[in-house]
Amino acid sequence: MLLTRQQLQTRIDELGAQLAADYAGKDLLAVCILRGATHFFSDLMLAMPGECVYDFAACSSYGGGVRSSGTVTLTRDLTEPVEGRHVLLIDDVLDSGLTLRFLRDHILQSKPASVRLCVLLDKPQGRREEISADYVGFTIANEFVVGYGLDYDQRYRNLPYVGVLKPEIYGGK
Ligand code: IMP
Ligand code: MG
Repeated sequence: MLLTRQQLQTRIDELGAQLAADYAGKDLLAVCILRGATHFFSDLMLAMPGECVYDFAACSSYGGGVRSSGTVTLTRDLTEPVEGRHVLLIDDVLDSGLTLRFLRDHILQSKPASVRLCVLLDKPQGRREEISADYVGFTIANEFVVGYGLDYDQRYRNLPYVGVLKPEIYGGK
């Protein structure tokens, strides 16, 4: 166990209040990055009083292991118009930075008013791209974590807490 449901909720409530203040009166397009950010996105939006529009995007880079393959592909694009809007990309974890770097560059081509990054977890030791998030829930060590949306090989997403995956589970990979 790394983060309990209560710890997650307390921090998400703080982030929600901060977002509401920062985006007050702005045309906010909140983008959930599937599938890992599902629970974070849902709880964060409920903790953010203020108007916003939802969209969803998906990238793939992992292919079942515990390390990024290094190649990111867009498997689901946004469907809302982006031009002139304030886009907030919401992801579960910022690790190598390849995913968010790729997605941010993709969105910038559509001329948004701004693009900011919001992640539940930041693993700065894993970074391979020069990128940082504007909003971070928790900064954690370079360990592979699961639960509250985060998966290992598509499993453990529904754990109601964040836990460190035992290395014997991913032994050979
Ligand atoms: P990045 O492209 O390496 O920054 O990784 C971003 C994506 O990798 C996240 O959206 C997750 O899907 C996945 N990821 C990175 N670290 C972990 C982890 O510890 N547990 C589960 N997924 C992870
Ligand atoms: Mg993910």
